[in-house]
Amino acid sequence: MNATVASTRRVARVLRGMPTSDGAGVRLTRVIGTPQLDLLDPFLMLDEFGTDRPEDYIAGFPSHPHRGFETVTYMLDGRMRHKDNHGNEGVLVPGSVQWMTAGRGIVHSEMPEQEEGRMRGFQLWINLPAKDKMSAPRYQEYAPERIPSVEPTTGVRAKVIAGRVGEVQGPIEQPATDPTYLDLSIDAGARFVQALPPAHSAFLYVYEGALRVGAGAQAATVNAQELAVLEAGDSVLLEGRDPSSRAILVAGRPLREPVARYGPFVMNTREEIMQAMADYQAGRF
Ligand code: FE2
Repeated sequence: MNATVASTRRVARVLRGMPTSDGAGVRLTRVIGTPQLDLLDPFLMLDEFGTDRPEDYIAGFPSHPHRGFETVTYMLDGRMRHKDNHGNEGVLVPGSVQWMTAGRGIVHSEMPEQEEGRMRGFQLWINLPAKDKMSAPRYQEYAPERIPSVEPTTGVRAKVIAGRVGEVQGPIEQPATDPTYLDLSIDAGARFVQALPPAHSAFLYVYEGALRVGAGAQAATVNAQELAVLEAGDSVLLEGRDPSSRAILVAGRPLREPVARYGPFVMNTREEIMQAMADYQAGRF
């Protein structure tokens, strides 16, 4: 292996999520944060929610805490109202993103702002380094029209939430993990090459259609509702296999720190988890 030669990332493994429920009984598919893929440093959890049945989402996520990491909610369909104990409130609409840095702690609710129709999107949890875990909470929230959309090549459209496609930079700032988060739409036969920092952890989650990932004999097909964990490399090559395929491509710098997690608290040590629980109980969030 010559590390200086440009390398296209190969698929390390392909897996499907597992059905679960969270909040007050919202049905969703957990893709990262399961026994088969506990952690893809710095990514702690990935949930896909997608349903036309109100009974699957109507109970929402009533008041609950977070400390020590970031939650990223990307809506495809439906509307979700969030409200926290610091006075922040808003409605996420289709195509919007909320990148919430929980830092030292917030208590919030995430409730559907609709009683019927389709609800679809993703929530991703991204870890924070020890030095930022107790930082002040922060929101980076963008309406759909503020997320740049580009057509890097014919038949390929990319919404750039974080990171860059060519010269187009997404709005999210997070120096600790330097994330890439793209929502891709790729027509059959269209090819797309995305540069990624070589050492960043990266995954592709296909949510419609199918994509071929990688080059030549090493390529693998990833179907809808499958997650491909990517090996190291400085780019990823994707090719559409269905009339229209959609996927999120996500990458970030691994933190390589100890992870102590208990539900909505993600710290470095067990003592810090105990402290988080005590602080939450005492109303110090
Ligand atoms: Fe939450």
